Amino acid sequence: MNREGFAIGAVASLTFAAFVAFVEGCDPGESVPTIDCSTAAVPRYSELGEALSYCTRCHGAGRGDAGVALATYDDAVSVADESVDAIADGSMPPRGAMPEAQRQAFYTWAQCGAPE
Ligand code: HEC
Repeated sequence: MNREGFAIGAVASLTFAAFVAFVEGCDPGESVPTIDCSTAAVPRYSELGEALSYCTRCHGAGRGDAGVALATYDDAVSVADESVDAIADGSMPPRGAMPEAQRQAFYTWAQCGAPE
């Protein structure tokens, strides 16, 4: 476990707090809600920041586990649907090592058209 990652995550959590509160309000009964993309505040790839870093520590360019690279927009878009499934079923990130705010930010991005 990476302490620095936790510290950075805490800061990012504040950044996403308002956004997450909104998303959770759509369906508070599920840890990974079905997003209403017509009303959700969808982050852009360029805004994912620390949410993306939780995935790219294993899925970086050139060293992507399972051939999945998320470090560039084009690569990440190509696996957006697989990422939705992997996050929703809890297999990614492994061992759940990702704050809920980051998980939902990435999930919303991937499910709602994966804007650049
Ligand atoms: C600790 C390293 C690690 C982290 C962090 C991680 N992954 Fe993975 N990922 C893997 C490994 C290893 C596999 C291959 C797993 C398998 O085939 O069973 C994989 C497979 C995948 C796949 C292929 C489909 C699948 O489920 O096997 C996708 C898509 C994926 N990861 C997306 C993500 C996303 C999105 C994140 C961030 C939310 C993430 N991963 C975080 C290691 C990681």
